[in-house]
This record gives sequence, structure tokens and C-alpha cells, in this order.
Amino acid sequence: MDLLGHITTRQSIRKYDDKDVDDLLRKHILEFAAQTERLRPELGITVEIADAGRMRTMGGGRAPYALSLFSDEGSCRLVNAGFIGQQLDLYLASRGLGACWLAGAKPTGAERDGHDFVIALGFGWPRGKLQRAPEAIRRKPLAAISAGSDPRIEYARLAPSARNMQNWFFEAAPSGDAIHVFRRQMGAVMERLWARLNYIDCGIAMCHLWLASRALDLPFRFRVLFGPAAPAREGYEYICTV
Ligand SMILES: Cc1cc2nc3c(=O)[nH]c(=O)nc-3n(C[C@H](O)[C@H](O)[C@H](O)COP(=O)(O)O)c2cc1C
Repeated sequence: MDLLGHITTRQSIRKYDDKDVDDLLRKHILEFAAQTERLRPELGITVEIADAGRMRTMGGGRAPYALSLFSDEGSCRLVNAGFIGQQLDLYLASRGLGACWLAGAKPTGAERDGHDFVIALGFGWPRGKLQRAPEAIRRKPLAAISAGSDPRIEYARLAPSARNMQNWFFEAAPSGDAIHVFRRQMGAVMERLWARLNYIDCGIAMCHLWLASRALDLPFRFRVLFGPAAPAREGYEYICTV
């Protein structure tokens, strides 16, 4: 399935037709969710589809349906959830469905199978255009979010992020076979409000790095380096290396 091709044409959809997503398509979505790639395979994940009526929403964003992601506790759980959810965002686009990440939506009951709710992805049949011309994508230039050169970083650059903050940084290792991922740190108030979502954003961007790695036949090995081996960057928190 060509998920990579949807990176340059996807956009957040916020207006939907009043048309059902039938049971078979919902089953396909959940089957796809069950076989998504994971950064942390040891973390149990539950994905469910809820009608909008079963979601409580705060702030912007409504959709007829929502995919809710629940996860085990554990290191990199937010990054892992973003990585999985972005595969779903692109899969929904491949099925002609519109989608939008929803930071303010919560399902009834915060837990499934012992896994805590992390984030929701609203979806439904789009009212209006599903796709966007690549030149209409609003993102920071490569120079502002990366150092070194690696063709995969362009795909990460195009990733969606909460409020389009793009609080990430990608450093291509001089060896050419690894990319270090960082998160830009903010003042204390902003950190309290946004850090959680920014970890999810990093996972979303890493999904794009993974898809590009597959397409370009480059290695993608997720790891978190510790101690003297951990890369550092002033004003940024090191997240992982792939
Ligand atoms: C983790 C996350 C949470 C988001 N939450 C919301 C939301 O609550 N409401 C909304 O309208 N858009 C939300 N968005 C969508 C972003 O605003 C959108 O992805 C960004 O502005 C880039 O636009 P694009 O997706 O059309 O490329 C969210 C995106 C992410 C990644």
C-alpha cells in the first residue's frame, strides 16, 4: 500500500458529509490498525472507533467518527502512539476518508484493556476536497528544522503537528545512515500546555521518516541513546535516533 504518496497530498479535514462509514470499511480500518508498525512493540495498544456522540470534545475539532488510541504506560508511549496514528491518518486518506487529529477529544471512559487513552483522530467522508496541492502545504523550511543532509527529512518536514508548531529538529548523522530526532523546548507555561502533544508530533514525523526509509531502501532502526552517546542540542530535548 502506497502510504508515502499521501504525505504530499493529505491535509486536515474539518468539514464532513453526513454519510455513514459502513461496517465493512470500519472493519478494514481496525484490521489495518492491528497490523500497523510499532516503535515500541512491547507496549500494548488498543484502537477503537467511536461515533462523535460518544466523544467529549473541548476546543476546535469535530468529526462524525473518531479513532481513539489507548496505550500501555512505558517509555516513548506518546511517540509510539503518534507513529501508529499517522499510519492510520495516511491509510484513511488512501481510502478516500478525511481525517484530523483531535487534541481536545476524549472517549467516554479513559481506559480500555488496561491501556490509557492517548489521542484521537477524527474522520469521515470529506465535504469538499480530500487532497491539497503540495505547494499549498505550510511548513517551516528545511534549514529551520534540520542539520545535515538526508532525503528522508523532507518527508518528516511535511508531517502534521498540533497547531502546526513543528517543534521538531532532525539531525542527519555524518555517517549518512542515522537521523537524530529532537524536540524544541519552550518556556515553562508552554511546556505544560504543549509538550505532551509535541511528543506525539515527533512520532508522527517519524512515521514519515519510516515510510521514506522503506521507499528509499535506507535503514530505519529505532533506538534511544543514553549517556555520552546521547546526542545533544542547545534548547532541544533529544528524543531518539532512527
Ligand atoms: C497531535 C495533534 C493534535 C491536533 N489537534 C487538533 C485539534 O484539536 N483541532 C484541530 O482542528 N486540528 C488539530 N490538529 C491538526 C493540526 O492543526 C494540523 O495538522 C496542522 O495545522 C497542519 O495542517 P495540515 O494537517 O492540514 O497539514 C492536530 C494535529 C496534531 C498532530
